Amino acid sequence: MSKFISPLKIFSGAGVLSEVIGEIQYYHASKVMIYADPGIIQVGIVKRLENILKENEIAYDLFSEVVPEPPLIIANKAVDTLRKCDADLVIGIGGGSSLDIAKTAAVLSQHEGKVEDYLNLTGTKKLLHKGLPKILIPTTSGTGAEVTDIAVFSLETTKDVITDPLLLADTAIVDPELTYSLPPRITAATGVDALTHAIEAYTSVNASPLTDTLALDAIERIAQNIRTAVWHGTNIEARTELSLGSLHAGLSFYNAGVAGVHALAYPLGGLFKIPHGESNAVLLPYIFDYIWPSCVEKMKRVAKALGVYSSNMTDREAAIATVQGLYHMVQDVGIPTSLKEFGIKESDINQLTEDAFKQTRLLGRSPKPYGINDIRTIYERSLRGELQLGR
Ligand SMILES: [Fe+2]
Repeated sequence: MSKFISPLKIFSGAGVLSEVIGEIQYYHASKVMIYADPGIIQVGIVKRLENILKENEIAYDLFSEVVPEPPLIIANKAVDTLRKCDADLVIGIGGGSSLDIAKTAAVLSQHEGKVEDYLNLTGTKKLLHKGLPKILIPTTSGTGAEVTDIAVFSLETTKDVITDPLLLADTAIVDPELTYSLPPRITAATGVDALTHAIEAYTSVNASPLTDTLALDAIERIAQNIRTAVWHGTNIEARTELSLGSLHAGLSFYNAGVAGVHALAYPLGGLFKIPHGESNAVLLPYIFDYIWPSCVEKMKRVAKALGVYSSNMTDREAAIATVQGLYHMVQDVGIPTSLKEFGIKESDINQLTEDAFKQTRLLGRSPKPYGINDIRTIYERSLRGELQLGR
């Protein structure tokens, strides 16, 4: 048995931002609330959306206080703002945080209580209905937040989520034109995050034929275009392929789940504030250096999708070529390939190991089990930049 969940409608392709009007009309909305962060407003992307709304005489309000990995105080402010306003449709535009805040506000504005009441680990209330219609418009190619039902919040020393299919977008609008101005480092980090979603979903114990199809397609599109998208940001074809790859990776991992890379990356974000995409990227080769023997056949398929396979390779050689291919990709897009380059020290490894070992939900999806010493060894190898490559 497998189950597949996705938003009701997904638009993708250059220029699909303009579809937003048809969607607003479809939901008979009279006023829109937009959630965005100051950075995306400053580069003029929100202005493009506002211009489309003005041309079509659609009233809107703009909540511009979204911050990366938003704390509860911002999330609650976003919900309260919507409760006090007469908007009847929500648009989130930006990176993952703006989309997460928009999902949360659309649903919680129509429920009682605060954001913390609905958190996964400590909440006491359950969501009852999907709230206001929501349109999510990503401006990076990476998080997959436009097609998932997860909203992530920063607490004092850790993170927690609200997750429920009621948070899913009614409409996702994935327009690669909105990513053209992303700088190389963000393109690299979000792109490798998307690749990580695809490869972790593909090797997840919860993978299904549908998630496998999407994941392999995503790996191929991202691997073949990420270098060009990073270093030649205005290359429309590379941006379009990366955008589609990220969307397919998002649909795949939302249904099959992510695993060890994300489990070990979370403490790097929590303790050292390393951005999500970069903390995944730096660990990605070392995790697959550890788990490849448990999924050799799938690693061979990934080698083909990465473009590192040749017909004279044994399956084992193909799996090892995959690990090397991942390392080279991270290196080629300019992300550090060892934890030492992020300033992590040997003395930090115990805390990182303890925190990662608590991520049992994520670790449980890995095709190869993790003991606490396995996690410690992976951190040690990634600190020093040492791949085993089957030796
Ligand atoms: Fe991720």
